[in-house]
Amino acid sequence: MKPSPIALILAAGKGTRMKSALPKALQLLGGKPMVQSLIDAAKRAGCGKVYVVAGFGYEAVRAKLPKEVTVIHQKEQLGSGHAVMVAEPHLKKEKGPLLLLYCDTPLIQSDTLKALIRQRQSAKAEAALLTADFCNPTGYGRVIRGDGDFVEKIVEENDANEEEKRITEVNVGCYVFDVKKLFQSLKLVKQNPKKKEYYLTDAVGIMTQSGTVTALKSTDPDESLGVNNRLELADAEKALQKRVLRRFMESGVGVRDPQTTFVDSDVEIGQDTLLLPGTVIEEGSRIGQRCVIGPYARIRGGTVIGDEVVIGNFVEVVRSRIGNRTQVKHLTYLGDAEIGCSVNIGAGTITANYDGKNKHRTVVKDQARIGSGTVFVAPVTVGKSAVTGAGAVVTRNTKIQDGQVYIGVPARLMMQSAEKSGQRKGKR
Ligand code: UD1
Ligand code: CA
Repeated sequence: MKPSPIALILAAGKGTRMKSALPKALQLLGGKPMVQSLIDAAKRAGCGKVYVVAGFGYEAVRAKLPKEVTVIHQKEQLGSGHAVMVAEPHLKKEKGPLLLLYCDTPLIQSDTLKALIRQRQSAKAEAALLTADFCNPTGYGRVIRGDGDFVEKIVEENDANEEEKRITEVNVGCYVFDVKKLFQSLKLVKQNPKKKEYYLTDAVGIMTQSGTVTALKSTDPDESLGVNNRLELADAEKALQKRVLRRFMESGVGVRDPQTTFVDSDVEIGQDTLLLPGTVIEEGSRIGQRCVIGPYARIRGGTVIGDEVVIGNFVEVVRSRIGNRTQVKHLTYLGDAEIGCSVNIGAGTITANYDGKNKHRTVVKDQARIGSGTVFVAPVTVGKSAVTGAGAVVTRNTKIQDGQVYIGVPARLMMQSAEKSGQRKGKR
């Protein structure tokens, strides 16, 4: 059996052009640190082991990554080639082909990576690299093709002459290498005289002198976007949203206005749920079937919503569970709440879940009816079919029993609900 490919992701750069205290690798795209998007793509492409080179913000990057990823420290950022050399002690024992990625090209798809791995194999080449045709290639390394369509070298923007600058085929920053050959070539790379860096791209040019380097041209211009500044980050987010929303629409989720709807890539949404304009759904939230969400709703992390639920305008939900057929139609905040089935949450209901130190839970059981403007000062429990009056302030540790009606400030028991007292009479 052939050894499975391994992945190395370069993520040590400061990302100077981002003008941020956060390392570029950790800038969020679709709610996920950019470097994580690449780890996921590499795994989906069949990579066994994943290595990440971190430098600027090393501790922060390491803390954010899954344990099975080996994080290598590049103490000084002396260029992409240097970053790979730092990884040599970890990689030289590896047998499989090396998939090498940059953390700032986060939209690359796993199918493209698989195709690149296959292409190197079938061309029996030392390396395969991904390229793209850009109408404006400024800032990217240009790919110089030689005989028989093989790559001759890559010239960086700074070092390109006028003729080379007119080449529109760019280096995406995604390669598959024979590990041994890569390190042999890297040893011969000289410091770039202008930027004083060791370029990985120079190793490609060295490799072609004794072997072959093949190239695969991407057909999706979005996946090749390099993210170096905030404008490019916003462009990448737009492209990602287009991709994510398309996937949802293809699986039967309605999106009335994709321009103003933002859904993180790890969210799950059931069939025939309709997302209305201005809706934001984040951090792995799960939403069932036939729900209506929005307009202007924000569903945050740790939220699980059942089927046929309505979350209306100006509603925020975080770390909460909401049962089937429950309606939360207007101007509401639900944090750390557990709401049963067929509950009606009146307009302006608020869970006051945070006491300045800790977060507390609000539990509302099936068929309860919560009056407009109710404030739950958590922790509180509201029983099955119980009712709160408009403007009720349900204070800490209150346990409203099944069928009870609570009103006022602070809310107190008014009566058993008609249904419940009826049941009592019937028993007598
Ligand atoms: C790089 C490529 C360029 C390509 C472009 C695609 C080089 C020399 N150039 O240019 O051909 O068209 O990406 O987006 O590779 N890094 C480290 N340690 C360092 C320096 C960089 O880990 O010391 C990492 C960065 O975090 C980044 C990657 O290497 O993920 C590329 O570095 P960057 O400075 O962004 O290169 P570009 O100028 O964008
Ligand atoms: Ca870059």
